[in-house]
Amino acid sequence: MAFPIVRHRRLRASAGIRGMVRETVLNPLDLIQPIFVTYGTGIKREIASMPGVYHFSLDTLKEEVDEIVSLGIPAVLLFGIPETKDAVGSSGFDENGIVQEATRLIKQWYPELLVVADTCLCEFTDHGHCGMVHTHTVDGVLHGDVINDASLELLTRTAVSQAKAGADIIAPSNMMDGFVQAIRAGLDEAGFEHVPIMSYSVKYASAFYGPFREAADSAPQFGDRKTYQMDPANVREAIREAESDVLEGADMLMVKPALAYMDVIRVIREQFDLPLVAYNVSGEYSMVKAAAQQGWINEKAIVLELLTGLKRAGADTIITYHAKDAVRWLRGE
Ligand code: PBG
Repeated sequence: MAFPIVRHRRLRASAGIRGMVRETVLNPLDLIQPIFVTYGTGIKREIASMPGVYHFSLDTLKEEVDEIVSLGIPAVLLFGIPETKDAVGSSGFDENGIVQEATRLIKQWYPELLVVADTCLCEFTDHGHCGMVHTHTVDGVLHGDVINDASLELLTRTAVSQAKAGADIIAPSNMMDGFVQAIRAGLDEAGFEHVPIMSYSVKYASAFYGPFREAADSAPQFGDRKTYQMDPANVREAIREAESDVLEGADMLMVKPALAYMDVIRVIREQFDLPLVAYNVSGEYSMVKAAAQQGWINEKAIVLELLTGLKRAGADTIITYHAKDAVRWLRGE
């Protein structure tokens, strides 16, 4: 009689046994919730392309943070929309800048909640690039080159001002060469040698950041980010990026975006022993939300499947706009 020698279905027969042999379990402690803060009063404004994600003014921020804390999410990632922008992004390293103010407030309310500060200039520069630019006009069209080494000083000032305000983790996302080393040196010099750097080590020049750039008003005013963010076609280069960050003193590595880059997450996991963060970015969130709003997918099941997939691929921590919902669903709400 022909019959299967191996019966895989024995270990799938009930919820109990499936739970027993489950290899990857998503935990609220794995998640980081991003927050957008803005000037003004009484503002809780939904971002059109990111349903369920809002801009908060400092006076409405507390209810959001209360909710995050009550759900047991251990960390938030802060993005700020400044009042003014200029060529060097000075509102990014202003001691009273929007991110610095929000950080101080959150740490006052909840000393235990980890505040992760995104260290970049694109939200604060009038040209929307992540560093300083030299501009020139060719046939009436503005062009610009982002100047690496001069940008490092501004980024370091930004990181130090964020640490001064109380940020627990500095997360530089600018993709200049040498940014980890420069920021590490700056933090150490200012007495913040205990503040870790979560480096956006492997950050691709991705179309998945579209909704974020609308939310943060940070789209480049000319050109694109392809001279500093990575080519989506490359994975060996990801190893070189991660390696240099490790040598420069990064405490955690990141791969961004996440869903189209699970192979990259796996490779970085296998090659490096540092904690690894995956950033489930805005466009990835918006796609799920749009399909869910149409009634085409089961949002809860899809989100938990995606986040579990990222963890299975090798991420220890996931930055995701779904964090609050995911925790509610994990709790069975
Ligand atoms: C700043 C930054 C960006 C994102 C995080 N930090 C935008 C960019 O690089 O253009 C994108 C996050 C998202 O899409 O959710 N450089």
